Formats: sequence, structure tokens, C-alpha cells
Amino acid sequence: VKYNEKHRLQYHFSPEEKWMNDPNGMVYFNDEYHLFYQYHPHGTTWGPMHWGHAVSCDLIHWEELPIALYPDEHGVIFSGSAVVDWNNSSGFFDEGPGLVAIYTSTDNYPDSDRSRQRQSLAYSNDNGRTWVTYEGNPVLSDVNITDYRDPKVFWHSETNKWVMVLATGQSVTIYTSKNLKDWEFASEFGNTAGSHDGVWECPDLFKLPVDGDENNPKWVMLLSIGDNPQLKEGSRTQYFIGDFDGTTFINDNSDETVLWLDHGRDNYAGVSWSDVQDGRRIYIGWMSNWRYANQVPTEGWRSSMTLPRELSLTSSEEGVRIAQKPVVEIDSIRKGMEVYKDLAIEENNFSCNISDLTEVSVEFEKQNATSFGLFIENSEGEKTVVTYDVEREMLLVDRTNSGDNSFSESFAAVQEAPLRMKNSRLKLQIFIDTSSIEVFANEGEVAVTSLIFPSKVSEHLTLFSNEGNTNATQLKITDLASIWN
Ligand code: FRU
Repeated sequence: VKYNEKHRLQYHFSPEEKWMNDPNGMVYFNDEYHLFYQYHPHGTTWGPMHWGHAVSCDLIHWEELPIALYPDEHGVIFSGSAVVDWNNSSGFFDEGPGLVAIYTSTDNYPDSDRSRQRQSLAYSNDNGRTWVTYEGNPVLSDVNITDYRDPKVFWHSETNKWVMVLATGQSVTIYTSKNLKDWEFASEFGNTAGSHDGVWECPDLFKLPVDGDENNPKWVMLLSIGDNPQLKEGSRTQYFIGDFDGTTFINDNSDETVLWLDHGRDNYAGVSWSDVQDGRRIYIGWMSNWRYANQVPTEGWRSSMTLPRELSLTSSEEGVRIAQKPVVEIDSIRKGMEVYKDLAIEENNFSCNISDLTEVSVEFEKQNATSFGLFIENSEGEKTVVTYDVEREMLLVDRTNSGDNSFSESFAAVQEAPLRMKNSRLKLQIFIDTSSIEVFANEGEVAVTSLIFPSKVSEHLTLFSNEGNTNATQLKITDLASIWN
């Protein structure tokens, strides 16, 4: 039975079996979204990395294809990106465009345990079905830098060059190229900026309009931060907002400003799709955390991706911020829907049944309660609680009683996100899959992504209000379909 194991996500991508981590090489080409991923085909824990491969025409339904890249004489295959080489700048293709993957090869220095990370190329002229590794690999190396990985490449039309952002320990190094093979140093960013809680990994850099205004674009740099055993959060992803001229990234904010992409524990190493033709910037993350990824209680398979999300920029008093919401294609799995209006909530006075695959959209209007929210619960009384704390202006997602926490001391957690109400209202859009809950607040201004491992699937939803009343002006519950069955 495929995809029917305990805890198996039903509308999030996971490979049929074995271990997966970072999404890699996402590119749109000839009507297909490609998703590659860090994959260990021989085990359910991290090991010698390959690039697994899946394709989709709607970002929701995926077909797993054979492994795309295998370890070779340059080492195992770490994270990286893929682009459409529209003008055959690489010379890899006889005619027309083709796909080029740019990834990190990792082995050890001869006679040493020290890792050596170098950037390599592979190309495909059959829509990603088969790949040829470039005989000139590696194309970029630096003996002085140990952590030297996760190249994300894009075409910068203003300067007519390919740009690579590369994670280099505690910074991002930017390189440029005319042909994807010869890379020139351009600049380094970040040694003193943002969070340095862990090693920097998986950068991305792209332009987006602010508040939808194409005349007012900003550049976004995404940056994942490796696990730091001193901190409870484990691995997480930050971002920077600024400007980029083809050479240098200038951060809009002070060095001290730290912006988190997601306030949940389980969204890591995400980057965006290349070459999407309709102007959207689409992102997907690995829905786990290095702190416990190897221990989560699943059998035969391990880890899934987040829902694919469309990113946008909105301006606020604090500055420009990322907003994210699931791609509109999610509509293809929406089934029956129930709508309730104007529910006056006192304590736990509204409850209803939900299916194990559910989307909940709710708008709360503040009255005199000190906090309000909702929880989902199964027949064992295991529950996950989403609370808005009015005074602290904080959104909380509490998974301390969600189910199995035993596999890691760090798993039980109350995840917190600062969030203001808008005109005394709070909107939540929540996606519940078998073992995950993704909360988007106020049109995606805040995202909280977390895994949960209930012993049985959730069956009930309850709205609550503490020490006073709250109105739920609208509650919409939508059943979602599995993408596998
Ligand atoms: C991030 C990461 C990357 C690396 C890959 C190895 O999760 O550590 O930096 O390329 O995973 O699987």
C-alpha cells in the first residue's frame, strides 16, 4: 500500500520511500514544475546524498521519477539549483534551450577528514529525464573555505549575466558568469548581518514588487541557518530585504535586524522555483528540522515538503516584509465546504467534526477576551492549540500535547509569532494534514509550520475564548483530497 503508512502526509510531497531533506533544483520548463531533493535511497536517515526527482503540472500532484543525480568521482551530491539555459550560453545543447543543474559535490580532501565542497554542473536535454555530468567538473572551488555550498543560480537580465549566491560559512558569496562554467567573484554579504546562530546554508536571491507595484521592486535574500544545540529552535530560515545591482546586495535593515521566514519549527532549506513564466515567486521548504529530522516516528519514509507557497512583499510600519500563502492550485484538492457566520464564542462553545485532511479559514473579531483561538483534537484527547494572546500580540501554536513527543526533547514546543490584529480582526488560514499543521495569519503575514505526531488523526475542531467573548465572524471548513489515492 502506497502512501498509507501511519503519519504519511496526504497532500504534501514526500518520496514513496526512504530519507529526504532539502528541496533542490526547482525549475519550471515545458509545462512542468521540477522538484529535486536531497535523497538517500538506501536508508531512512541522512546518508550519501543523491538528487531525487519529481514533476508536477500543478505543484500539488506529483509524479516521482528515477533518481536524477548519483554520487560520482567528485563526491556526493549536495543541494543546489537548476535553470533553463534559454540561449545555450553553456554550449551544452545542440539547439534550443535545456536544463542545467548547479550543485555542490562534497568529498574529503585527500589524506584529510576535512570536507571539500565544490560546485559542479549537470545538464539535460530531455526535460530532466536524464542528466549528463559536465566533464569539466568542478567549476568552482576554494581551498580556504570549508562550508562552501548550495549554489542558487539565476539570470540577471540587467547585466546579462548568470548570478550565483553561495553559502560560505557565515556569509553569502556572490559570483557571476557568462556561461555557467566560468565563475568570477563579485561580492560577499552578511558577515555582520542578521542571525549567525548556525552555519549559513541554502541561500536564494530574487526580486519582487512591493505591494504589487512593479515600479517599486525590492530584492529578497533567503538564508537558512543550521542547527545550534545551544538554542531551542534548531534549524530555521531568515531573510533580508534590500537592493541588488548584479554585483552587490545592500541590506535595507540594520545588521541587528533578524527577519524569520516562518515562526514554526518545521520549514527549512527552502528556496524558490526558477523560470516560472507567470511572474509568481513560488517557494517550497523541507518540512522538518535538523534537531530531530532523523528521529521523527515514521517508518519506511522520512520527511515531506511544505505546501508550495507564493511569496509577495508588503510594506508595513516596520518596513517591507514577506507574505506567503499556499499556491492557488491548492484549489484542485478542495472538496466539500461548510460555512458558519457570526459565532459568538464564550469558552469552548463551538465544536464540530473535521476530516483528517482539512483547511480551516476563520476570522475572529476581538471583544473582551484576553485570548482566543482554536484547537484540533483526536479521540485520544491529543490536541494542537492555536491561540492569539491579545495583550502580548502573539500568535501561539502549541504542540506540547499533539501526540508523540518522545523521540526528541526539543519537539514539544509552543511556537510564537509576533502579530498585530487588523481593525481588531485576526484571520487564520490553517492546513491540517495527517502529521502537519501550517498556519497562515492575516493574509500570510505570519506563517507557522509544524509537524505533529498524533496517535490517531484529528477529528474535532473547537473554537475558544478565554476570560471573555470573541466573535468568529466567519468560519469555513473545507475537506481536502489526498493527492496519492
Ligand atoms: C541543508 C544542508 C545543505 C546541504 C544539504 C546536505 O539542510 O545541510 O547545506 O547541501 O543539507 O544534505
